[in-house]
Amino acid sequence: MKKKLRVGVIGLGLGRHHLAGYVGNDEVDVVGIADVNGELLRTMAQEYHVPNTYTSYTDLLKSQPDLVSIALPNYLHAPATIDALKAGVHVLCEKPMAMNAAEAQRMVNAAHGNKRVLMIALNNRFRTEAQVLKKLIEEDVLGEIYYAKTGWMRRRGIPGAGTWFTQKARSGGGPLIDLGVHMIDLTRWLIGNPKPKSVLGATYAKFSDTEQGVIDVEDLAMAFIKLEGGISLIAETSWASHVPSEGAYVKLIGTKGGAEIIGDKLTIYTEMHGQQVDITPAYTPRAWADCIAAEIAHLVTCIRDKKTPMSTGEQGMEMMKILEGIYKSADQGKTIKIG
Ligand SMILES: NC(=O)c1ccc[n+]([C@@H]2O[C@H](COP(=O)([O-])OP(=O)(O)OC[C@H]3O[C@@H](n4cnc5c(N)ncnc54)[C@H](O)[C@@H]3O)[C@@H](O)[C@H]2O)c1
Repeated sequence: MKKKLRVGVIGLGLGRHHLAGYVGNDEVDVVGIADVNGELLRTMAQEYHVPNTYTSYTDLLKSQPDLVSIALPNYLHAPATIDALKAGVHVLCEKPMAMNAAEAQRMVNAAHGNKRVLMIALNNRFRTEAQVLKKLIEEDVLGEIYYAKTGWMRRRGIPGAGTWFTQKARSGGGPLIDLGVHMIDLTRWLIGNPKPKSVLGATYAKFSDTEQGVIDVEDLAMAFIKLEGGISLIAETSWASHVPSEGAYVKLIGTKGGAEIIGDKLTIYTEMHGQQVDITPAYTPRAWADCIAAEIAHLVTCIRDKKTPMSTGEQGMEMMKILEGIYKSADQGKTIKIG
């Protein structure tokens, strides 16, 4: 039997779900957790029986774990990831990978330079409906996919107004970098990660009640993204807008069929024997926390078997180029080439 991986978790907001995923995984031992919030540290250590707690993540790194999850506010992703990689530790970094493409590039360089694995946590790829559709696409059920549309729109859902989430200097942006990153990534992953060529985007801030604290990011963003192979992708995302209710979707149009994921429901639109048919594959959707556990299990297996994980730093960097391009396009009012 192989030795268990020694793992740590840095940042215990969303990170507590990483912690739960590791604790439920037989191939790892959780050796430590880090958070500046001492009270949260104590509670999590007690709940999950973690032997060591650290208010400084660098002290956790000094204990030489094999792997850490980094679930810190966005502005700390790059510095903490690079510190971990330089310390010889594999990293699972939460989305968005970084604040911008330059930071992402430094993270990728640090992974290569230190021969460590860097995986970006994009848990939507682990949703059952996404994995079912991915398989159908690989079996050419949709044919050549040439048009896609995706979005995650909230009616009201600005996360923690006045916290790091709504401050551009600490988040890098609003719903685009927070929610849009998931859906644009999911769409590109489903169609084989075609490289981005150009973006035209617009952002709006119409719900920013600054009495609650600093909100200097957009509350709605939309973009027209051109991908290699002539594929067009339209994306929309909001934290607050006059829509019926919160919803996320991916729609793909191919030469042999179309597909929609709306919520956790997948439908395929195609033709059989000259007849138009709608297909609803049967599956049990994975719960949100189980997607994180599955993501962790995947990474642990990849590290053990020396395989490249399915969500790489390089893909994360391409995503950062798209997001940065959309913000630049919104500022400058013109199409931004990516390449
Ligand atoms: N994949 C998903 O579905 C998903 C969901 C939510 C959040 N996230 C991502 O996870 C990251 C964290 O988001 P969150 O919602 O947990 O934020 P949060 O603010 O709730 O939690 C961040 C935690 O980091 C701690 N922290 C801050 N600075 C620190 C430091 N220097 N050293 C150690 N700990 C520090 C805070 O005390 C806090 O407990 C973000 O990048 C966010 O985009 C991903």
